[in-house]
Amino acid sequence: MDAFSRYNQLKQEINAHNHRYHVLDNPIISDVEYDRLLVELRQIESEHPDWVTPDSPTQRAGAVASDKFEKVKHPRPILSLANAFGAADARTWYERIRKLDDRVERAKFTVEPKIDGLSVVLHYRDGVFVQGATRGDGEIGEDITANLRTVRAIPLQIPVDSGQWTASSGQKPVSSEQLSLFGGAEENYQLPIPNYLVVRGEVFINNKEFERLNTRLAENGEKTYMNPRNAAAGSLRQLSPAITATRPLTILVYQVVYWENEAQKNPDILYPPGSQWELLQWLKSLGFPVTDVARRFDALDEAISYTETWDEGRDNLGYEADGMVIKLDDLGMALELGFVGKDPRGAIAFKFPAREVTTTLLNIEVDVGRTGVLTPKAVLEAVEIGGVIVRNATLHNFDYIAEKDIRIGDRVLVKRAGEVIPYIIGPVTDARGGAETIYIPPQTCPACGQAVEHFEGEVAWYCVNAACPAQLVRNLEHFVSRGAMDINGLGIKIVEQLIAIGLVRDVADLYTLTREQLLALEGFANKKADNLLAAIAESKTQPLNRLIIALGIHGVGEVAAGDLARHFSSLDDLSETSAADLESIEGFGPNTAAAIVDWFARPANQNLLQKLKENNVWPVSIPSTFNLQPSNLPFSGLTFVVTGTLPTLSREGVKEFIEAQGGKVTDSVSKKTSYLVLGENPGSKHDKALSLGVPILDEDGLKKLAGQ
Ligand code: IVH
Repeated sequence: MDAFSRYNQLKQEINAHNHRYHVLDNPIISDVEYDRLLVELRQIESEHPDWVTPDSPTQRAGAVASDKFEKVKHPRPILSLANAFGAADARTWYERIRKLDDRVERAKFTVEPKIDGLSVVLHYRDGVFVQGATRGDGEIGEDITANLRTVRAIPLQIPVDSGQWTASSGQKPVSSEQLSLFGGAEENYQLPIPNYLVVRGEVFINNKEFERLNTRLAENGEKTYMNPRNAAAGSLRQLSPAITATRPLTILVYQVVYWENEAQKNPDILYPPGSQWELLQWLKSLGFPVTDVARRFDALDEAISYTETWDEGRDNLGYEADGMVIKLDDLGMALELGFVGKDPRGAIAFKFPAREVTTTLLNIEVDVGRTGVLTPKAVLEAVEIGGVIVRNATLHNFDYIAEKDIRIGDRVLVKRAGEVIPYIIGPVTDARGGAETIYIPPQTCPACGQAVEHFEGEVAWYCVNAACPAQLVRNLEHFVSRGAMDINGLGIKIVEQLIAIGLVRDVADLYTLTREQLLALEGFANKKADNLLAAIAESKTQPLNRLIIALGIHGVGEVAAGDLARHFSSLDDLSETSAADLESIEGFGPNTAAAIVDWFARPANQNLLQKLKENNVWPVSIPSTFNLQPSNLPFSGLTFVVTGTLPTLSREGVKEFIEAQGGKVTDSVSKKTSYLVLGENPGSKHDKALSLGVPILDEDGLKKLAGQ
């Protein structure tokens, strides 16, 4: 197969795997195999940059930040919905439209969740996602295409192939089923969709993901979001798509806003169906994520009963829904009924009762997280919210308490959303009796008593004592977690026991645990002890990026750890690096660079590293798929330092030259430096290189070394 065919096949195949993973929740290849396909795709794209199209999976992330969003006019108004608060309201709505059109009497209804997210409008030209916009005022929205591209559930090209791909991928690009759909042969390949299709959906964050996002933000000292909707809104409106890409946004699509077709260009077009129920199936068959709890009913009463079952079951949806939408299934009829203001007559939002109550704030406690962040937690007079007894609520951070003027003893308005931790909206100031007390944040850590600190530009307060017992528990939890060292069978209860009896004082102590020690713990028999020891031993084979994640350095998550593992061959290397070197890595700002250098500079952490090394927890490898740079370039594995002015190459130019040859440029000379590149008027780096015996090259020498 020629490179161009392979390229197209890879794009389609990766998009299909992406769809299986993010939309169908049914992947058929491992992450490593997926990465391998992406690496191959990137490789082809680096050789043929002119082949890259907007539907390439590589285009999801990495677009540059903009300073504002452009305006987009929607092809049709993006309407809203009228509300019904209960069955009686819904029946009144029905009566009203029945009087306008007696066909309503025999009408069917499709019921869907009313997702509490952000409405977005997605444009596809000849099957390729070309533009995405916010709802705005319904007429004009904002262009957030680059941000929406990062949402994995949004297909970049439709229809998404649902063929049974294997990693080896010697197959045809479409399944036999699809071939028949497309007309039976590859030459007749025609998109069974309009040339121009505009759909609408709701972007949101699942409740579990929302909690994880907030935990991550809090650990990094950043502001947390009040609720999943705010988190989705804040994430979509980032000016930097690279940030949006790190947010767990997803989408469900429910409407065709507009479509156009040039009949002669596409005679076999499949038109969007005229029934809401069928439209949802159609959208799904094209690869759009569609709710799986929609149902169609023959009568309004059945639709209402179904809606009411979801009022009770709303926590099981996994995301926030503030009601169900009851829609006339016949979209033609709905259109004819017209609208009142911005609300179409053909549909109604049947709202669930709000889950907000007032109760008394008895106290404010403070939790200490893994990175030492102190988070205030409300202790409430127990109250029932939507069938659940609530005793605690989050207060986000100390600034939030001050901004909202929340006082101990206040009546407070509390909201519970899904399985998300309830949060305090604010105090009911009218209910104050005068005995409420203003809260003063602690000056010392509630777990270890040491003074707390504040970092520039962050909202959080930290306990910076590495030996703080509260942090140790969280640290260990993080160290053994799935995304880090993945030590199975080491739950929080065991972690707490190990710390309480002094067997574990830092994460390295896990590697010296013995069978006898484990057997002495509550609930441990031979098999459990052996399994745990095996899991601990197994974790020594985790690659370098996982160990870097596990160390829990401030601001270093999965992506940064991957980058570090690509740049440094071991923790020895990383621990000798300078902030300037780190900042030269794309995506590393001064804060993260400083946090990394600071982490390695602490004697307690050096001690920890020493212990890990002694116990052979010292990976030097990273997964091969990480290495996007071919290793057979002239400068592969070599590190250069440049000093002085070179005859022809500028500072940037020499860096680009070295990197293009597979080499690395660092800022300071060490015994690991392979060559010093010397120009006129060099600085102290020259002396250092001489004293360490580092080989010295001039510009010509450098070019010769590259074989030029
Ligand atoms: S239909 C003519 N369906 O709710 C179509 N809207 O309060 C009108 N929403 O702005 C919208 N889930 O952002 C529809 N399944 C769903 C929805 C839904 C959420 C949002 C949408 C709309 C708001 C109206």
